[in-house]
Amino acid sequence: MVDFSRRDFIKGLAFLAVGAALNPPIEVKAAQEEVPKLPWPYVELDPEYVRKLGHLGYYAFECAGGAFWAIMVALKEKVGYPYTLLPLPSVDEVKKAVEEGEEILVMMKYGGGGAFSWASLCGALNGAGLAINMVTHNYKKVGQRLFRWYETFPFPSDISNELASKHQFLVKKYKSDKVLPKSVSHSVLCHVSVSRWCVASGYASGSKERSERCGRLTGDVAAMTVELLNADLKGKLDEAFKFALTPTTAECRTCHYKGKNYEEGQFSRGFMVCESCHKDMRPHASSIVTLGSKGEGKGDNSLVLSGAGATAAIGVVAGLWSYAKKRG
Ligand code: HEC
Ligand code: HEC
Repeated sequence: MVDFSRRDFIKGLAFLAVGAALNPPIEVKAAQEEVPKLPWPYVELDPEYVRKLGHLGYYAFECAGGAFWAIMVALKEKVGYPYTLLPLPSVDEVKKAVEEGEEILVMMKYGGGGAFSWASLCGALNGAGLAINMVTHNYKKVGQRLFRWYETFPFPSDISNELASKHQFLVKKYKSDKVLPKSVSHSVLCHVSVSRWCVASGYASGSKERSERCGRLTGDVAAMTVELLNADLKGKLDEAFKFALTPTTAECRTCHYKGKNYEEGQFSRGFMVCESCHKDMRPHASSIVTLGSKGEGKGDNSLVLSGAGATAAIGVVAGLWSYAKKRG
């Protein structure tokens, strides 16, 4: 719980201190308010408001800084302390900075363009991930749902496309106000997400349209994060998003998961869409003699596969099966 009387008292002290010494050293200021342990209090947020903040945040801080700032500043507006302890510019300050082209350094900015422009983890996911980390012990459950949702979602959303075309986001000047084409990445990687969108839309990676697409995506990711956090607050995470891997990933993970048996395939880990990268499985098929359960992973958000590569991956799994049957 927030102790307002204590806070006001401390603020009063801070005021006196500033009066006494016009430029108090940072250590003195920091000692004035206690930094509580994580998780910090989360209250229900409006996903539509946070979507708009995410889009504005992208214009100011790119994807990772934008998604993180959107969620945290919405919490700061509603909860106040302890979010007041973070270096979070206000919505008005950010609007002004965007209009004047002023650079503000915020947390998570390094995550832009898939971390230092390396195009690894999508920055919107990275920034949202830190926000999730700060507000709930269930961070892993929430984050895994967010990642899986991202792999399956056609970005940018209809809502974001509409907000932009009707000029209802919080920016004054748009990189583009077109209704942009959509694509599903089947991957959490910036590289795959951006490249697939560029190929699907015909826009170059350095185009204003691609940048705008990532701005809308940042809004969409921030909004979904808040939907999941709202659901987590009510203990209804599964109702917000039913977690299910692609059938192929579930299949591969019967042998390849974080485990101790090296010989059975436990020399890798993770939940990504395996078939988005591993397509030719012939070399290793010969060493496989058994296949595990065909169970988990056939949920309503299972991947809809398309294209020659995906067909090849499916073919490989089917091939492994018939091979295992012959051997067994
Ligand atoms: C029945 C267990 C099993 C399943 C299912 C399985 N693998 Fe493997 N996989 C292995 C084992 C065991 C090896 C090691 C083979 C070796 O080195 O001789 C291996 C090797 C590999 C390799 C190393 C390179 C190669 O081809 O030799 C890759 C990559 C791989 N698996 C990916 C996958 C993917 C992707 C899937 C799902 C489409 C999958 N595996 C399904 C057991 C399995
Ligand atoms: C983003 C692309 C990507 C995704 C997605 C991916 N992998 Fe890989 N994986 C790689 C790369 C690259 C290597 C290293 C290959 C090499 O060194 O030859 C690798 C290596 C492996 C290896 C060891 C290969 C070896 O040479 O022994 C296994 C097993 C494997 N992956 C399984 C999986 C499984 C199972 C999944 C899904 C849960 C998966 N991978 C998802 C790219 C990916």
